Amino acid sequence: MLAGKRIVVGVCGGIAAYKVADLVSKLRQAGADVDVILTEHAERFVSALTFSALSQRPVYGDLWEPTGEAAARHIALGREADLLLVAPATANTIARLGQGMADDLLTTVALATTAPLLLAPAMESHMYQHAATQANLRLLAERGAIVIPPESGRLASGEIGPGRLPETPTLLAWISKTLGRNGDLAGRRVVVTAGGTREPIDPVRYIGNHSSGLMGFALAEEARDRGADVTLLAGSVNAIPPDGVTLRRVGTTLELRDATLEAIREAEALVMAAAVADYRVERPAGHKIKKGSADENPDGSLTLHLTPNPDILAEINALVTAGGAPRLIRVGFAAETTDVERNAAAKLARKGLDILVANDVTKPGSGFGTETNEVILLSAGGASERLPLMTKREVARAIWDRVVPLLRDRAPSSRDAEH
Ligand code: CTP
Repeated sequence: MLAGKRIVVGVCGGIAAYKVADLVSKLRQAGADVDVILTEHAERFVSALTFSALSQRPVYGDLWEPTGEAAARHIALGREADLLLVAPATANTIARLGQGMADDLLTTVALATTAPLLLAPAMESHMYQHAATQANLRLLAERGAIVIPPESGRLASGEIGPGRLPETPTLLAWISKTLGRNGDLAGRRVVVTAGGTREPIDPVRYIGNHSSGLMGFALAEEARDRGADVTLLAGSVNAIPPDGVTLRRVGTTLELRDATLEAIREAEALVMAAAVADYRVERPAGHKIKKGSADENPDGSLTLHLTPNPDILAEINALVTAGGAPRLIRVGFAAETTDVERNAAAKLARKGLDILVANDVTKPGSGFGTETNEVILLSAGGASERLPLMTKREVARAIWDRVVPLLRDRAPSSRDAEH
């Protein structure tokens, strides 16, 4: 999503300016062209050399460069930009932007561009919370600027409160989301489930599975970057869930069932990438099960009685068939170890899915905990497509590519005419 995008990063004079060097580096690595503008005060905190080395482009600062081309610099930067990010946005620059001043290159570019303006305020808490700063931010937001909320924590002043510049992955998520806001999923509400469910045995033990959640996270990120409003229901996962989505944590299959039924009420598509436990312990012990206790059988063995969990997709299918959520597009996953295609086709029919993503988890590079996946996409119409080994993000892209036309057919939105 970031490849080939032209991003202007305005850096102001705040202690968090050094963090933006890392952001510029990551943007460059993702293939974006980054033009950095330093305000006069920023140059006291960080050097232009750092940023030009990372962006591999000149860094701009002075509105009054003595070369001929400088006179039109703000026009060119503004015209070519896909996005203008101001980070850290200081109280002073927020005030200048709010008033529409054009007293340096950054504020001039902000006036000259029609690209979206992203502001990442970072400053001492009282300055951030001051009525003047808040009024300026509201004014800018009313005019269409997107304000990234600062994080709370320990500030350079030693105080604890809101005012920290979010970390690079969070800033990258906001940039991707903003760039994709007119994408082919713009305005669509989608639900993605990810990770494994956990069924308690007693207060300290559970039955779980190897799901890493990476496939579901890639699906959520991809949908977010194509403009969707994403609800992510995440079971147990080690990875950090993406920013810029509505996240709900779930534990057991029953919790996931309730959360999914609630989330699909407003949604147009559901992608069930979660690895759902088919059984749960019928009566989890209220205390930790001890060796030699009455929980054991007389021969010292332990019996756990497992009872079936509801099949969430099958329940939703019953709901759809009964007219409950008729336009919901449903995508399921099937991790198989034998007879992949036949088992998958049967599963697609049984659960009434539009698309089923099947993978042979015994293949190298496929399945749990890997960065890649090799899948077969089966459609309700009977089509089957074998995709090569690709990253989970690429698999996610292929899945949404096939969901978009289904959404247009089943639930056209006013924006579809634009695509
Ligand atoms: N799934 C579900 N509810 C369950 C179990 C699975 O909604 N109780 C969903 C999964 O999220 C996945 C799809 O159904 O999208 C297929 O999951 P899988 O475990 O392969 O299917 P099962 O129906 O459990 O079939 P089996 O274990 O017999 O292969």
